[in-house]
Amino acid sequence: MENNEVTVVSLPRIGEKAPSFEAVTTQGNIKFPGDYAGSWVILFSHPADFTPVCTSEFMTFASMEEQFANVNCKLVGLSVDGLYSHIAWLRTIKEKIEYKGMKDVEVKFPLIEDITMEVAKKYGMIQPGESNTKAVRAVFIIDPKGIVRTIIYYPLSLGRNFDELYRAVVALQTADEFSVATPADWRPGDDVIVPTAGSCGVAKQRMESKEEMTCYDWFFCTKKLSKEDVLSKIVKK
Ligand code: BEZ
Repeated sequence: MENNEVTVVSLPRIGEKAPSFEAVTTQGNIKFPGDYAGSWVILFSHPADFTPVCTSEFMTFASMEEQFANVNCKLVGLSVDGLYSHIAWLRTIKEKIEYKGMKDVEVKFPLIEDITMEVAKKYGMIQPGESNTKAVRAVFIIDPKGIVRTIIYYPLSLGRNFDELYRAVVALQTADEFSVATPADWRPGDDVIVPTAGSCGVAKQRMESKEEMTCYDWFFCTKKLSKEDVLSKIVKK
């Protein structure tokens, strides 16, 4: 590709319905996102089976599956490899790989085969500047109504931080549940951001209310939200 050439890839957008598809996976056929209605779901791609960064990622994500399930979030993986490659790779992970204290790791969430790249192209996972033949490390966090809420892309060489993906799911649910926003590096128990008052009336009401807030300026106010309040609404177990 010439340097000044731009390749147009289709990308889902935050706030829009997740593009739908049907696929064959290691756990049977799925209809996406319909089969996941009522749950949060992380759809993520990896470049290739039997590669080291991807193996470390799958072992980490599979080890956290229950933690995600406890916040009503399911996981779905994808690469442009075929089903038998997926099955053989996941079996190798379970039977042979011991890494950072993780061993006997069973990947129970579905891994989509996408040899035609149909799904990968729909989700902008093929980014030719990085690779024409492998998906980049894409992450789509989709809410129970099938709306794309967060999109993150990583290049082939950079393994993802799965604690950050968990933090993002909890922060999105907290924002929905408590009508707040979450500041930089927020974790449950930290102060949350009160949306800026849209009118003088709301601002006046807020000034007069008993709710305790800390205001750094008129457009930047926070309030306390206890870890217990967050966890009691978000975490199922
Ligand atoms: C990996 O997972 O290790 C990997 C996959 C594709 C390209 C580079 C690294």
